[in-house]
Amino acid sequence: MGQEVRTAIVTGASGGVGRATAVALGAIGWNVAIGARRADALADTADLVEKAGGAPFAAPLDIADPQSVDDFFAAVTERFGPPDALVNNASLANIGRFHEQSPADFARDVQTNLLGTMFCARAMIRSLMPGDTIGDILFVSSESAHAPWPELVGYGTTKAGIEGLARGLTQELEGTGIRIGILRIGATLTDFGSTWPEGKLASVMEQWPYFGIQRHFGYMLPEDIAATIVHVLTLPPNVQIPQLDLRPVAPAGSGPWSKP
Ligand SMILES: NC(=O)c1ccc[n+]([C@@H]2O[C@H](COP(=O)([O-])OP(=O)(O)OC[C@H]3O[C@@H](n4cnc5c(N)ncnc54)[C@H](OP(=O)(O)O)[C@@H]3O)[C@@H](O)[C@H]2O)c1
Repeated sequence: MGQEVRTAIVTGASGGVGRATAVALGAIGWNVAIGARRADALADTADLVEKAGGAPFAAPLDIADPQSVDDFFAAVTERFGPPDALVNNASLANIGRFHEQSPADFARDVQTNLLGTMFCARAMIRSLMPGDTIGDILFVSSESAHAPWPELVGYGTTKAGIEGLARGLTQELEGTGIRIGILRIGATLTDFGSTWPEGKLASVMEQWPYFGIQRHFGYMLPEDIAATIVHVLTLPPNVQIPQLDLRPVAPAGSGPWSKP
């Protein structure tokens, strides 16, 4: 493993954590296959990967559609050969009180975040299985998997679900050379939540501290998460990190003891 050229797939690479991860992997010279639904934004990521020194391959991907996932993996394999790593990152979140959401809202969260993540993991395992090669599947989860955020209960449920999937696969795949990891992240400055109704993010940010969530205004950058992902994917092959929690540091001077 180490720094030799490998091929990584990054889902949800049209922005945020996915884009930053694709660029960071490009910077260590990897082949980076990127997928998402917005082709124009994906093309921008491909340019950035190339500028960083990597070889990009962009193709449309809707993880909620199993055929799209299979087509994407086939296209990546045709371009680079079998991929070595999957950063299972793409997701969305419907915001709102649970009882006010529609079955379609529930289905959207589950179809994308849980089933879509499962479709991608399945495709990756099928690709890795025939060989004895070392491979990685990293699941991008959320602190909401264990500390649910009110008004994002459906989302948190799907993140808890993918963590269950990851733990199950860790057992089922032991001895195959496939490493499974969970990266649980907290507040990160991305477009996450940008499609929510106007003012919604601000209103939940006011409520969440009551529940012990988002107690301060520290945040991470997508590049911070990307650097951690590169670290996990470049560990020696005999080492794995089953789960990693990343949280923002509270802004300096914001704690109770730092006030005059
Ligand atoms: N930002 C945070 O504070 C935070 C906190 C905890 C966990 N996370 C997790 O971090 C990961 C990255 O999120 P982010 O913050 O970077 O959010 P983001 O900026 O909203 O990016 C989400 C990405 O997922 C893609 N996506 C959504 N549905 C898709 C689908 N059906 N098929 C393919 N791609 C799809 C989007 O691309 P298209 O729209 O182009 O398809 C986009 O590139 C997610 O798993 C999220 O749950 C984020």
